[in-house]
Amino acid sequence: MKFYVLYFSPTGGTKKVLDIICSAWDCPKEYINLSDASGMNLPASFDENDICIVGVPSFSGRVPQFIIPILKQLNGNKAKAILVTAYGNRDFDDTLLELKDAMEEADFLCYCAIAAATRHSVVPKYGTGRPDSDDIKELKQFARKCREALDKPFSAVSVPGNRPYRQYSPIPIHPKADHHCTACGLCSQKCPVHAIPSGNYRKCSSKVCISCLQCIALCPAKARHINPVILKIAEVKMKKLCDGRKPNLLFHLS
Ligand SMILES: Cc1cc2nc3c(=O)[nH]c(=O)nc-3n(C[C@H](O)[C@H](O)[C@H](O)COP(=O)(O)O)c2cc1C
Repeated sequence: MKFYVLYFSPTGGTKKVLDIICSAWDCPKEYINLSDASGMNLPASFDENDICIVGVPSFSGRVPQFIIPILKQLNGNKAKAILVTAYGNRDFDDTLLELKDAMEEADFLCYCAIAAATRHSVVPKYGTGRPDSDDIKELKQFARKCREALDKPFSAVSVPGNRPYRQYSPIPIHPKADHHCTACGLCSQKCPVHAIPSGNYRKCSSKVCISCLQCIALCPAKARHINPVILKIAEVKMKKLCDGRKPNLLFHLS
């Protein structure tokens, strides 16, 4: 049996949630970052005894789209999967359903799913400080229940969402570098969709960029930023939807 953690976590919130959940399994884990090299480091195939936790942030209530073809090319061979999404205190809409559909197409058995409320990576005043100590307690409980569910006869998890999925609406927020940029190239190398041209790091293709903000999180010189006016507009627009404390949710067969 091998334990895999497949994830995309451009600003660290999803990974934080996964680390809390994974602490329920006391065994070696192989972490695979889905934003690295379009899945070149993925195992060719899994085994039915393997456990695979797959975690993504909810973007526009959907799975970040570059991930779908990466997942669909996997050969799950009926390995056991736990689906996780981190959402920024608005809603995760069809994210878990889309993730489940992709994993089932790749022949994984989806036992359980978790939606975890996190700090909003674009407007961090929403969901600020999450996951907090109450979240950690609750997510650990969820993880224990998932561990138990994996030992029971398989029944596919039922998750909320609709088909066709909600329309993916990109947000017009594209980080740019200022004069502090040292041209180290890390942003361009690590961009999951290759939106930052190599050798021209101050630029960012607004057509290709998915606004994941990984380039801001990674930049050693802290040279990349979002336009503060656009950010303020986003903050005001999102206020009603992101106010209040949103729940963590577990989906599994009881
Ligand atoms: C482009 C984009 C779209 C997002 N869309 C949603 C959304 O529809 N609902 C929501 O609750 N949070 C949304 N968020 C917030 C993220 O889901 C949340 O902050 C998540 O924890 C980010 O994961 P990370 O910290 O691993 O990058 C969005 C964030 C970004 C960057």
